[in-house]
Amino acid sequence: MKFLVLNGPNINLLGVREPDIYGRMDYNALIEKVTKGCEDLGIETEFYQSNHEGALVDAIQQALGKFDGIVINPAAYTHTSIAILDALKAVGIPAAEVHISDVTQRENFRQISYAGMACCCHVIGKGIDGYIIAAKQLREYIESH
Ligand code: DQA
Repeated sequence: MKFLVLNGPNINLLGVREPDIYGRMDYNALIEKVTKGCEDLGIETEFYQSNHEGALVDAIQQALGKFDGIVINPAAYTHTSIAILDALKAVGIPAAEVHISDVTQRENFRQISYAGMACCCHVIGKGIDGYIIAAKQLREYIESH
C-alpha cells in the first residue's frame, strides 16, 4: 500500500514555528519518523509540502492512479480551501485528515474543516505521531471497503 503524505503552508517551518503548539521536531525529522512508522505498518510513503494552495490541488490530482491513500494536513487551508476539498472529492482517493495541534481547543476560525469533509479519518491533536495513527486508520478503512 502506498500513501501520499501532503502538508500545507508553514509545515516546512516545524521546529521553529510556535514550538509550544507544534513541538520542536522539524519537517525533515517528521519525514524520517513518519516514513519509519509507516514502514513498520507495511505502508510505503511519499511526502510533499507546499505553501501554495494550487500546488496542493495539483499534487492531489497527480495522485490519481499512483497512490492508494492520502494523509493530508492542509494546515491553514483546512479552514478556507474549497479547492482542496473539491480536489479530494474529484480524485476519490481515500484520505485521512491530520492536525498536529488540537484545533478543537483553539480559535473559532479553526473550527471548520473543509478538507475534512472529504476525509474518512480524522486525527487531531496527537502531534507528529498523528500522521502514523492516521496512516494506520486509513489502511484499515481501505482494507474494509
Ligand atoms: C494545523 C492547524 C491549523 O489550524 C494551522 O493553520 C496549521 C497547522 C495543525 O497541524 O495543527 O498550520 O493544521
